[in-house]
Amino acid sequence: MELIDGKKIADDIKKEIAIEVEKMVAEGKKRPHLAAVLVGHDGGSETYVAHKVKACEQCGFTSTLIRFEDDVTEEKLLETIDELNKNTDIDGFIVQLPLPKHISEQKIIEAIDYRKDVDGFHPINVGRMSIGLPCFLSATPAGIIELLRRYNIPTKGANCVVLGRSNIVGKPVATLMMQKGYPGDATVTVCHSATKNLKEICAQADIIIAALGSPGFVTEDMVKPGAVIIDVGTTRVPDVTRKSGFRLSGDVDFENVAPKCSYITPVPGGVGPMTIVSLMKNTLLAGQHVIY
Ligand code: GUN
Repeated sequence: MELIDGKKIADDIKKEIAIEVEKMVAEGKKRPHLAAVLVGHDGGSETYVAHKVKACEQCGFTSTLIRFEDDVTEEKLLETIDELNKNTDIDGFIVQLPLPKHISEQKIIEAIDYRKDVDGFHPINVGRMSIGLPCFLSATPAGIIELLRRYNIPTKGANCVVLGRSNIVGKPVATLMMQKGYPGDATVTVCHSATKNLKEICAQADIIIAALGSPGFVTEDMVKPGAVIIDVGTTRVPDVTRKSGFRLSGDVDFENVAPKCSYITPVPGGVGPMTIVSLMKNTLLAGQHVIY
């Protein structure tokens, strides 16, 4: 069994990006500039955005954090998006999700200029991804694909089972895994809450991508010997032994599954760091104007 070290790969990629940025600056170009909009004080969102701002520094990007209290109106948020769309100094921006219930996430996502949508959530980017055109790929799926590439994990003709059908992970990662080329060319099955015989389907898989947000869901009996396991779960579970009062739990029963597989991602330190670095990659591309 080999552990897939997402933290190391992410650090390598950040160094590669920083070198690109210094080249751009030496040529008289401006540093890529990412803005992040954060609404409210959700613990998970605060942590993710803080990591994104730190990653910008490591890559040599400029970053701007725009904060609102959770009673901000949808109208005010749409106004801010309009300003960011028009601001030529901002290359790309994100609105951290989830948003308070009185704000339509879909309306917010569709208000973002797709050419600055470095999260890859706008329907134009999602549509372009699904037909294999250049676009901003959503960060978690792109990070998973990059891990498979950097570990030379075979995907052609592989049975790939995706657990979960969310718009930001399950659906896009299934699309990328079935696309022509490497990593891709897999035979993909997407399982969800209405799937019958889920355990049997998983037991046939060469690659399992678990993205359902259910701690320890994938157990040893669901895993074929030698399978590749990608764990996207990051559920906060209470843990009194930690200063924070919680620990992150993946969707895989790591202790019992790990000895059985060929490759596995840990939580934390697997997919998580790759998600942030994929956003950095998109911001670099936005700053270079090579996609749009
Ligand atoms: N919330 C959870 N993941 C993400 C992400 O990748 N981008 C944004 N904007 N919000 C998120």
